Amino acid sequence: MKQPLIIFRNGQQVCPLGQGTYQMGRRRSEEIQALRRGISLGLTLIDTAEMYGTEDLVGEAVRHCRDEVFLVSKVLPSHASYEGTKRACEQSLRRLGTDYIDLYLLHWIGHHPFSETVRAFAELQQEGKIRQWGMSNLDVADMERILALPHGTDCATNQVLYNLQDRGIEYDLIPWSERHTMPLMAYTPLGEGRLRHHETLVRIAERHHATPTQIMLAWTMRTPGIIAIPKAGSVAHVEENTRSLDLTLTAEDLREIDAAFPAPIQKIPLAGW
Ligand SMILES: NC(=O)c1ccc[n+]([C@@H]2O[C@H](COP(=O)([O-])OP(=O)(O)OC[C@H]3O[C@@H](n4cnc5c(N)ncnc54)[C@H](OP(=O)(O)O)[C@@H]3O)[C@@H](O)[C@H]2O)c1
Repeated sequence: MKQPLIIFRNGQQVCPLGQGTYQMGRRRSEEIQALRRGISLGLTLIDTAEMYGTEDLVGEAVRHCRDEVFLVSKVLPSHASYEGTKRACEQSLRRLGTDYIDLYLLHWIGHHPFSETVRAFAELQQEGKIRQWGMSNLDVADMERILALPHGTDCATNQVLYNLQDRGIEYDLIPWSERHTMPLMAYTPLGEGRLRHHETLVRIAERHHATPTQIMLAWTMRTPGIIAIPKAGSVAHVEENTRSLDLTLTAEDLREIDAAFPAPIQKIPLAGW
């Protein structure tokens, strides 16, 4: 692996390539095999959420190796009051079949005040039910509001949309996260699989004897501190994706990518769900 490990605030370290699980469940046993193969290859961060309906699948996949994996789950905004967050966490723990979540996120901004959610996160952390907490789908201004709250500087990450077609965060959110030494999690790094036939990616992939999917993942992880969490539903896809960790894109590759998928030159509001 060429990319450096990601180091969270509490010292926990993970591979910059994790595993997403949104829309898993239709091919359950194949998907569990895929997650397990990923874990055996070092992709120990697994991303789920109460919304996805995949926590029990993830729990089954990691039953034999809970302490080797880094589980990420998320509370729905509609549940993110103080009491609701604590209740939702208990339910996630039960579905996951574990007594702690490594990283617990607010899925996106809702109508409950951040202060309530963060107070619940801090208590869950003290109780040992979550190791760390963070946010998802928050732009810079909202991240500033989080850091200003009591316990706010314990925020461990922000999980946001980032792929070749959605590069807006390069303008301000990535630099902001770097200034706060906060790892960022890049979701939908493959554009839900749509981008892999793009001619630029095909050409670069040929030069590296790689696949376009591997190029997209190597590109996402080229910035230190960014964790890519593609969802792969088969062992073959997991194995292919893992090989992106050995790729280093050249200056020429990056120039061609920039020409095909331009970087932002002004503030673009955070895209996402
Ligand atoms: N925080 C949030 O609001 C948020 C929002 C969206 C997503 N997420 C997280 O981010 C994860 C990833 O995002 P995503 O699932 O939206 O999209 P994605 O990872 O960009 O794309 C997933 C698609 O790519 C395909 N794929 C994976 N590896 C492949 C390969 N080597 N070759 C060809 N196709 C491949 C998958 O097919 P197969 O299943 O057949 O492998 C699937 O159809 C989610 O699963 C979820 O955990 C978070």
